[in-house]
Amino acid sequence: LELPHLSFFAGAKIPSSFPPERVSEVAFVGRSNVGKSSLINALADTTVVRTSDKPGLTRQINFYAAGKIFNMVDMPGYGFAYVKEEEKTQWRELMETYISTRKTLRKIFVIVDARHGIKLADVEFLEVLDKKGVEIQIVLTKCDMVIPPDLARRYVVVKEKLQHYKNVADDPLMVSARKKTGILKLRKEVLRTVDA
Ligand code: GTP
Ligand code: MG
Repeated sequence: LELPHLSFFAGAKIPSSFPPERVSEVAFVGRSNVGKSSLINALADTTVVRTSDKPGLTRQINFYAAGKIFNMVDMPGYGFAYVKEEEKTQWRELMETYISTRKTLRKIFVIVDARHGIKLADVEFLEVLDKKGVEIQIVLTKCDMVIPPDLARRYVVVKEKLQHYKNVADDPLMVSARKKTGILKLRKEVLRTVDA
């Protein structure tokens, strides 16, 4: 099972730069450096999305076309301490505008580092998403960095915390972009979401 060929086609620092709403979209959000961009690459089996070991690489909303079928949208990270307050506010507003206005947005994949679980910045963002009525799928990534018994415990804790949100329909998915574990299941979920 593969995704259609991925290509970058638009980057937006301000809402007026969002491309037209033509096809269904799924978006990837999460704290800085959790591995959002890497996960998009793993899903599409490509390296077109830039990644970095330093937090704060993705600084605008990037739109990638999966063939002509649907879009995958890479967001800047939230909760990153070293970004200027001004820029953080700008990103938050940009993401909130995207989330509240984008008619073609089908689901937000909230990416969480399996080593850390759900942090305050995630809770804040989940509250926003839940209020706006956007469908949410939680993905625990970097699972290769956690030993199985700890991972099992983390999963339970995360699942427990999600009871609180009405727009989280399904259980968290567990993946590793590096080892490619769980990617097939997530890929299927993406395709199901966009009716591809
Ligand atoms: P920002 O754009 O800065 O918010 O970061 P991001 O969430 O897009 O993270 P990115 O994909 O750039 O990855 C951050 C770092 O995590 C890179 O060094 C990746 O190689 C690493 N990384 C991503 N996914 C995994 C994974 O599944 N396992 C491991 N071990 N490392 C990963
Ligand atoms: Mg990124």
